[in-house]
Amino acid sequence: MLGATSFAGRRKTIYLYLAGAATVICFLNLVFLTHAVDETTIRIPGLSLLRPARPHLVGEFARDQHPIGQLMKEADRQWEQYNQGRSSNFSQTVARYRATYGRHPPPGFKEWYQFARKNQVYNVDDFQQIHDDLRPFWAIPPDEIRQMAARLQTSDSIAGMRIRDQKVVSKSGGWRAETLAQSVGRLAKYLPDMDVAMNTMDQPRVMATYEDIQSYLKIEESTRSLPGDAQDQFTSDMPHFYDENATVNEEIDPGWFSVAGQPYVNFSRESCPPESPARNEKLNSEDADKLYKSSFGGFVSNFTGSTDLCNVGPVLGDKHGFLFSASSNKITRKLVPVFSECKVSVNNDILFPANMYFLKDERYFYNNKNDYEWENRVDSMLWRGVTSGGVQVADNWHRLHRQRFVKMTNATEMNNQTVSILVKDDKNHYQLLPDYHPSDFAASHFDVGFTEAWGCIPDCSFYEGVWTYKDQKPFSEQFKSKYLVDIDGHSFSGRWRAFHQSRSLGIKATIFREWHDSRLFAWRHFIPMDNRFTDLYALMTYFIGLESPAAANTSLPHGSMAPQHDFEAEVVATQSREWAQHALRDEDLDIYLYLLLLEYGRIIDDNRDHIGYSGDGSELAHFDAQYPFPPTLQPLVGGKL
Ligand SMILES: *[C@@H]1O[C@H](CO)[C@@H](O)[C@H](O)[C@H]1NC(C)=O
Ligand SMILES: *[C@@H]1O[C@H](CO)[C@@H](O)[C@H](O)[C@H]1NC(C)=O
Ligand SMILES: *[C@@H]1O[C@H](CO)[C@@H](O)[C@H](O)[C@H]1NC(C)=O
Ligand SMILES: *[C@@H]1O[C@H](CO)[C@@H](O)[C@H](O)[C@H]1NC(C)=O
Ligand SMILES: *[C@@H]1O[C@H](CO)[C@@H](O)[C@H](O)[C@H]1NC(C)=O
Ligand SMILES: *[C@@H]1O[C@H](CO)[C@@H](O)[C@H](O)[C@H]1NC(C)=O
Ligand SMILES: *[C@@H]1O[C@H](CO)[C@@H](O)[C@H](O)[C@H]1NC(C)=O
Repeated sequence: MLGATSFAGRRKTIYLYLAGAATVICFLNLVFLTHAVDETTIRIPGLSLLRPARPHLVGEFARDQHPIGQLMKEADRQWEQYNQGRSSNFSQTVARYRATYGRHPPPGFKEWYQFARKNQVYNVDDFQQIHDDLRPFWAIPPDEIRQMAARLQTSDSIAGMRIRDQKVVSKSGGWRAETLAQSVGRLAKYLPDMDVAMNTMDQPRVMATYEDIQSYLKIEESTRSLPGDAQDQFTSDMPHFYDENATVNEEIDPGWFSVAGQPYVNFSRESCPPESPARNEKLNSEDADKLYKSSFGGFVSNFTGSTDLCNVGPVLGDKHGFLFSASSNKITRKLVPVFSECKVSVNNDILFPANMYFLKDERYFYNNKNDYEWENRVDSMLWRGVTSGGVQVADNWHRLHRQRFVKMTNATEMNNQTVSILVKDDKNHYQLLPDYHPSDFAASHFDVGFTEAWGCIPDCSFYEGVWTYKDQKPFSEQFKSKYLVDIDGHSFSGRWRAFHQSRSLGIKATIFREWHDSRLFAWRHFIPMDNRFTDLYALMTYFIGLESPAAANTSLPHGSMAPQHDFEAEVVATQSREWAQHALRDEDLDIYLYLLLLEYGRIIDDNRDHIGYSGDGSELAHFDAQYPFPPTLQPLVGGKL
């Protein structure tokens, strides 16, 4: 096991430190009394978990011309814009809402705003995903959406959640439905009557064609208005909610069909713009790469673009299990209101914060055991998981995403292979090294492996001799590594939030979208990775460097080197952790869910064009003064990249 010894060694040191801790603390008190000492310069490993939430970084950026430095700089610029652009009071929030969406905020928005503010929302404007998801539904008459939602309650792999008289009344079985009912139960007193049809599959369900969605979005645009006399309340006693005694209207057939095990891109193509690589056969994979990768080094420069099936569908179609070997995958071409935990770029599901985030399941829930300071972690990249991601048979498992990743990080497998990385030449310029032998580097710095085989047909015997199964690691063990990789399973990965909360640096490859995507900035809060993993070694040799003797045993051209960028990694890991404490809290899940259901409540309301909050927001001036926004986050380090 990588790094175990050095970590144990450090543990010993920690105990030694602890033994002398009392003395040290007395000494510290004295020091603080006599000098204005910068607390950051005194490192006490054993006490490091007790440090205040806001970390202090000591170090320096490499200030070199590596493309990753440029990508981080650009991310910081975008982040600063986001960070400085927050609304600071209710008047500004409603004015911005109207300017952005061309509509009044929904009824109940004022109460939501107060709820969000009391719960320390950091950016009260950042809920664009909700609008993106709901916009096409403005083209569907509200009573039709209600009938669909009612009909879907009894549909295949859909659970119903119903609110009546400000209470959740449905009793669908299964952990997902129970969790959602509990979450909404906390919020129901603010919400109108509604039926929510929740997807109980791992995979998203709705995939209307590009042309349909375009026409819906045109209708949406044409219906925007800001009536001065809008009523700040929902309509009561509307028909067409789910009624157990009513006969189901069979005409409203969601039209499910299974695409499990079929080439997903053959279906998703029709949901892409005609000029996109998915539909324009004149574009090859290099043209597609240009849409989201840096020209030098091939790093992901547009994370959204790297997860967009209209860009990556053609090259990923046979490299990601979801796209060719999903165990279950039932979709419809009709725009039906289905709430899902994740989706891919071509889906029209309505996203809500995944149920798993509301549970305290230790496999996914952050706890700070062993979440040591950066310098007490090992220079290794860790990944553990099962062989999920799609149904595996003897002749397809090589192509599944997790399997490809585990092979690509296996030193034995890479023994006779080369990869591209960037190295500095003797003039201090970065150059592409196209034939780097990564095997030694992988052996020294990667700790990757499956914990068990699962999901094979007829059984997993074809894996014999292929993998060495490794021990499963709870978060507390994973957090000993500086670098944690997160890749998809059957669908999105539930660990991502905990990785953000931890002091490790998260590296992410995914095709799935989640509720929080607009608030997580690639290269500022995490490191994006191509779903083909072609940039893996260039990324890891950038962060870890090739200066250590173990890693340097690779024939680099004379005079060239690959310096370590440990400080850059620590900065992103720290920014990510700090941001998670502002934007990925339990409260943030409720704040999102609450606004989502208000917006949904309006879209299904017969008077949706005439209701909403039409005031100027000044009535909350007093409230705003009483509950100041969290202070604007300041840069963690003085020096710029
Ligand atoms: C709200 O904030 C904006 C921008 O800071 C400011 O111009 C405006 O006066 C504030 N309005 C109220 C009612 O405090
Ligand atoms: C449905 O019918 C049953 C039997 O008549 C009745 O007990 C129940 O209250 C009805 N449910 C609703 C929602 O009206
Ligand atoms: C998927 O699309 C490709 C390219 O158009 C085609 O060659 C292939 O036969 C299709 N596969 C299925 C199962 O429809
Ligand atoms: C990034 O990719 C997305 C999705 O493909 C696209 O909509 C967006 O315009 C791209 N952004 C930039 C800056 O190119
Ligand atoms: C590399 O080695 C593996 C066995 O470890 C073998 O299966 C594979 O064919 C070799 N590849 C090349 C390109 O030589
Ligand atoms: C790495 O590859 C070798 C050769 O294929 C295999 O024997 C070994 O079990 C693999 N290791 C892991 C961790 O899967
Ligand atoms: C370093 O590389 C040489 C030549 O490829 C090899 O023989 C040797 O075993 C390697 N040493 C280590 C420590 O990996």
